[in-house]
Amino acid sequence: MANNCPIGLFDSGIGGISIYNEIRKTLPKESTIYLADNLNAPYGKKSKKEIINLSIKNTQRLIDLNCKLIVVACNTATTNAVEILRDTFEIPIVGIEPSIKPAILATKTNHIGVLATEKTLSSNLFLETSNRFSDGVTIHEQIGYDLVSIIEESGIKEGLLIDKLRKYIDPMLEKNIDNLVLGCTHYYFLKDILEKLLPKGIKVLDSSSAVSKRVKQVLESNNNTSETLDTKNQFYCNGNESVIQNFLDKEKKVNKIIF
Ligand code: DGL
Repeated sequence: MANNCPIGLFDSGIGGISIYNEIRKTLPKESTIYLADNLNAPYGKKSKKEIINLSIKNTQRLIDLNCKLIVVACNTATTNAVEILRDTFEIPIVGIEPSIKPAILATKTNHIGVLATEKTLSSNLFLETSNRFSDGVTIHEQIGYDLVSIIEESGIKEGLLIDKLRKYIDPMLEKNIDNLVLGCTHYYFLKDILEKLLPKGIKVLDSSSAVSKRVKQVLESNNNTSETLDTKNQFYCNGNESVIQNFLDKEKKVNKIIF
């Protein structure tokens, strides 16, 4: 039976818009509700306990808004809280993790780089995935210090970001990486700047299409897909709405609410 309830997504800010865009492409008949918890950004520096509490709060809000599936559109929230969310709520929950496995399968130099937040890189889930798949490949990890804060405050301004990115990328290039994994949904929007910094032939990987495919699979296997093209896509935040607004088409309006 068709289920026209929306898919709920949350992130600490604009990062999950990259997942939203991909879901719109893969599942054009689905409505969505996007929660940007930007009052509490960045998550990457918070304690695991805080990330869990914020993730529970966001998930509950999306459930209250009648969502049928939750996408944790944030690597930091997924790697620190997804197991607890699945234990706490009955609704299907799809998370996002850095694309380490595809990078490991693709590398020819046996060196890959991962750029992610502090709390993603220190999480057990990340550690387990890296250990499970590394198989002779060296994973060079780099925390993207300050990148999320800068993006949340100012959007994608090359002048504010390029020197920091160069500082994070150069040591990985010296280690001969040929695949760079973007392990934070905010970093998806840095691809154009990264293209200027990376030599040709270095592949940049993100997980947005893997997540949207997984959402499709889960909806189909639960007989929960929507059958209408009359979709509605709603955006909510609890902090400053102007930066998020810039990441959306003009006709989409971000509403500020308390959550
Ligand atoms: N988009 C979040 C992620 O994927 C950003 C985390 C943060 O707020 O620091 O990790």
